[in-house]
Amino acid sequence: MSSEVKPYSKEEDSKKEQVRRMFDRIAPHYDSLNMFLSAGMDKRWRKTAIGMLDVPKEALVLDVATGTGDLAFEIARQFEDAQVTGLDLAENMLVMARKKSAKRGLSSRVHFTLGDSEDLPFEDHSFHSVSVAFGVRNFGDLPRGMREIFRVLKPGGRLVVLEFTKPRTFPFKQLFQFYFKHILPFVGSFGSGDKRAYHYLYESVQAFPDYDRFTAVLSTNGFKNAGFKVLSLGICAIYTAEK
Ligand SMILES: C[S@@+](CC[C@H](N)C(=O)[O-])C[C@H]1O[C@@H](n2cnc3c(N)ncnc32)[C@H](O)[C@@H]1O
Repeated sequence: MSSEVKPYSKEEDSKKEQVRRMFDRIAPHYDSLNMFLSAGMDKRWRKTAIGMLDVPKEALVLDVATGTGDLAFEIARQFEDAQVTGLDLAENMLVMARKKSAKRGLSSRVHFTLGDSEDLPFEDHSFHSVSVAFGVRNFGDLPRGMREIFRVLKPGGRLVVLEFTKPRTFPFKQLFQFYFKHILPFVGSFGSGDKRAYHYLYESVQAFPDYDRFTAVLSTNGFKNAGFKVLSLGICAIYTAEK
């Protein structure tokens, strides 16, 4: 299960602590590496994911594991009267997010807060919609994180999760596996200054319960109508579910 895979496998502290440390470390390089390593596809994936979010007028939307804020900004772009809260464990990722928010003139509509997805600092039923991009795979306790998201969603509210999956069709599966296992960690270790970060990316995707296994996690933890849409030949998927 994903909780077994840690960024710095030989060290003893918890997965959550290691994940926080890793993202604090790579924060200044995160955006440019994302763009380079995904050949710009990450932008399109986020746009499609937010297109599947159900956001009523003047909605409150939570973006969990917001990182440098790109998904939160996409929500603000697609839903002009929404108030967006981006939450993340790693302060240095939020420093980047706040800078981008100020630059884009979004500081009054998009707010960033430090916090843990497994212990969300919000009342029950606080948000009309919740999103997570490339975050759930990093949770220390996945079911607990999903139960917390369920708790803060309003009844009828929608969750959208964008996450890497393992491509399943020959020969793309084999080609992508080679890129993801060998080339991406090599380039990532130079670009990010962290030797382990992009090995962890590969390992955590292998361990993550993708496709039906993740919709089962959603259903087991309270969500209804859980389903998924595969993107880019199975590099990632958008999962949707409702409270
Ligand atoms: C791969 S980044 C994704 C960032 C952003 N959502 C995006 O689309 O680029 C994963 C983020 O999840 C955050 N994260 C991991 N575990 C978390 C947790 N338990 N609570 C809150 N944030 C967490 C990390 O700090 C990191 O910023």
